[in-house]
Amino acid sequence: TRNFLLLPLVILRQFSKVVLLPLSPVDNLLVLTAATEETDGFNRFIRTMKEFNYTNHERWKGGDVARTVGGGQKVRWLKKELIKYSDKQDMVILFVDSYDVIMASGPDELLSKFSRLGHRVVFSAEGFCWPDQKLAPKYPPVHTGKRYLNSGGFIGFAPEVSAIVQQWKQKDNDDDQLFYTKIYLDKAQRVKLSSRIFQNLSGVIEEVVLKFEKARVRARNVAFDTLPVVIHGNGPTKLQLNYLGNYVPTAWTHETGCGICDDNLLYLDKISDEEMPLVYVAVFIVQPTPFLEEFLERLTTFNYPTSRIRLFIHNNVVYHEQHIQRFWEKHRSLFPEARLVGPEENLQQDQARTMAVEACKKDKDCDYYFSIDADVAIVNPDVLRILIEENKSVIAPMLSRHGKLWSNFWGALSPEGFYSRSEDYIDIVQGKRVGLWNVPYITQVYMIKGSVLRGRLSQVSLFSQDGMDPDMVFCRAVRDQGVFMFVSNRDEFGRLVSSTNYNTSRLHPDMWQIFDNPLDWKEKYVHGNYNKIFEDNQTLVEQPCPDVYWFPSFSDKMCDDLVETMEDFGQWSGGRHTDERLAGGYENVPTVDIHMNQIGFEKEWLKFLKEYIVPVTEKLYPGYYPKAQAVMNFVVRYRPDEQPSLRPHHDSSTFTINIALNSKGKDYQGGGCRFLRYDCNVEAPRKGWSFMHPGRLTHYHEGLPTTSGTRYIMVSFVDP
Ligand SMILES: *[C@@H]1O[C@H](CO)[C@@H](O)[C@H](O)[C@H]1NC(C)=O
Ligand SMILES: *[C@@H]1O[C@H](CO)[C@@H](O)[C@H](O)[C@H]1NC(C)=O
Ligand SMILES: *[C@@H]1O[C@H](CO)[C@@H](O)[C@H](O)[C@H]1NC(C)=O
Ligand SMILES: *[C@@H]1O[C@H](CO)[C@@H](O)[C@H](O)[C@H]1NC(C)=O
Ligand SMILES: *[C@@H]1O[C@H](CO)[C@@H](O)[C@H](O)[C@H]1NC(C)=O
Repeated sequence: TRNFLLLPLVILRQFSKVVLLPLSPVDNLLVLTAATEETDGFNRFIRTMKEFNYTNHERWKGGDVARTVGGGQKVRWLKKELIKYSDKQDMVILFVDSYDVIMASGPDELLSKFSRLGHRVVFSAEGFCWPDQKLAPKYPPVHTGKRYLNSGGFIGFAPEVSAIVQQWKQKDNDDDQLFYTKIYLDKAQRVKLSSRIFQNLSGVIEEVVLKFEKARVRARNVAFDTLPVVIHGNGPTKLQLNYLGNYVPTAWTHETGCGICDDNLLYLDKISDEEMPLVYVAVFIVQPTPFLEEFLERLTTFNYPTSRIRLFIHNNVVYHEQHIQRFWEKHRSLFPEARLVGPEENLQQDQARTMAVEACKKDKDCDYYFSIDADVAIVNPDVLRILIEENKSVIAPMLSRHGKLWSNFWGALSPEGFYSRSEDYIDIVQGKRVGLWNVPYITQVYMIKGSVLRGRLSQVSLFSQDGMDPDMVFCRAVRDQGVFMFVSNRDEFGRLVSSTNYNTSRLHPDMWQIFDNPLDWKEKYVHGNYNKIFEDNQTLVEQPCPDVYWFPSFSDKMCDDLVETMEDFGQWSGGRHTDERLAGGYENVPTVDIHMNQIGFEKEWLKFLKEYIVPVTEKLYPGYYPKAQAVMNFVVRYRPDEQPSLRPHHDSSTFTINIALNSKGKDYQGGGCRFLRYDCNVEAPRKGWSFMHPGRLTHYHEGLPTTSGTRYIMVSFVDP
């Protein structure tokens, strides 16, 4: 295996004597490269060549370099090509592989750095003696760093380079690196040709960081503090560099204006609905997933004509069948030719994914395939348009779990092909670097061009391989075909939902997700107007009685789910908790209630108090900072035939929260609350709105009789 390395075409500090050669830069530099197919890697190389004005370059059209063992063809071709320049004393030849190489600077810098090295031929180095490890002891000693020759790149004057390759007499599938190594290890030749290896300038992937300069980005080898001109990756999977280097050209397009422009955007805004690209949207529900109803609902809110969407849903989870069914009853008319596959079909993940992607592949009208797993919360309705407009073969919107570093891409691969943290991973996840990033691994949500499925990816199995996860198989297959995968954080797309602690034996398990998925929880369970409480000009918070505030807190859904959970639990008690509640010596006022700890919701409730009620308290009672402790948290049920009302009492709290869980007029008649000291009644509670009033001493109050139906309220005694 070969390691990632940097071609050492950089200023060497130890060369104090600087030899400047009389080069006329561009005319005397010939860049030669080997490529047989126009892979994304090759096109990237050419783009960087053009960007930096390497005008004089030629491309080798020979065998398939990526796949042959030897690489001897390259030498055979060079031999033929370079004979023409054997007597061109001033001409400089740069030879590089192209799939995994990018130029990071122009010919002037390249030539000046080369001339300062003071050698006639310079090879790149790597840390591993390959292909013949027995040769390792024969290498001249070096002080530090990489010492073994790598044939993926070299630079030299034409006569010397030609003299080297003219010695080639082997076969096409013989090894080129071995050939060069033997010449290099022959001391006589080494001296004659003045060739050397710059062992301490090659870097492994971790040693390279991106340096953001004013106008562009450079890759910097931090171990040696150098700025390479040519960046070369040549790993076991042909990736190592790729996915360091890939960052470079794509990154600087967007981060800092235009370094290497990639102006391929495809604009959709002038296209009518009927002419929009046809997108196959494939949804995968792999495991019990919180907020699935909201996920499904979002599929209908994309800013994209649903007539141009072909929906496929694979649901592997029996628990979610109810949600799919409700969604389908409501929205089926939106999605023509949709296909729903349920758990009864017993498909493995790879089979389901293959089924979905094959449908797009086989339909020549399918322009894009968009795959999305149920734990992806896309909140940007323009997602399909944005991804299409980026015009990439494979692209994913960047998403992470709220406030976490867990995302849907990897910045780099370990040599074994697993996760490795790239130097800029955190900055990308946190949005400190914004752009379109070429990465080795994406998962959960991505878009593939139909033409690419029918082209470069047509012959490979995209998801199935024994013992491997479908997403690993997918990314490897795409990489192996020379197709780049991108992740974009140029727009805000949404977040990933965590399914880790999802307990579907609860009636409404999403209610328990306030810790793991706080944003989804808020969207579902907190009142839509809650945030307005904090607007300066707010007129939302009402004060129906002195020091009694009234503000929106729960969504309707929260009210309903909480009541249903209590009724489902069913163990309503009359005064069973009275004694503990009145431990402080207050009056005995029994209610028919169920406490939060009985349904295992106490932790979650206290979190709600802290996140949502405390800020309101601090705003309304300035100077009071609640500890937000509460041991008495319960839902009370009032019924004319059970307990219609509550006689006057004090609460054993600093303040009390009282949230109406259903609607007067619709669900019950009567009810309300009377504050005796102020002779003030609140008789028309609003569902989801909370009262907040001081508990002890001042706010002696009673629950007014419910005259019909059933009334539910959520009560919490805060800071008892
Ligand atoms: C390449 O040449 C163009 C035209 O001469 C010039 O505007 C541009 O700055 C050059 N690019 C670089 C990176 O030197
Ligand atoms: C690179 O090698 C030279 C001589 O071989 C040595 O003086 C220098 O310290 C090395 N640089 C690093 C960063 O190891
Ligand atoms: C989209 O990308 C393809 C492939 O890179 C390119 O050929 C095409 O010109 C691009 N389309 C636009 C509108 O730029
Ligand atoms: C899941 O919820 C049930 C109550 O519905 C509870 O008994 C059980 O302990 C919970 N499991 C976990 C792992 O929290
Ligand atoms: C209050 O201010 C917010 C911005 O802070 C504004 O969006 C809203 O319209 C304003 N409401 C009223 C009633 O003026």
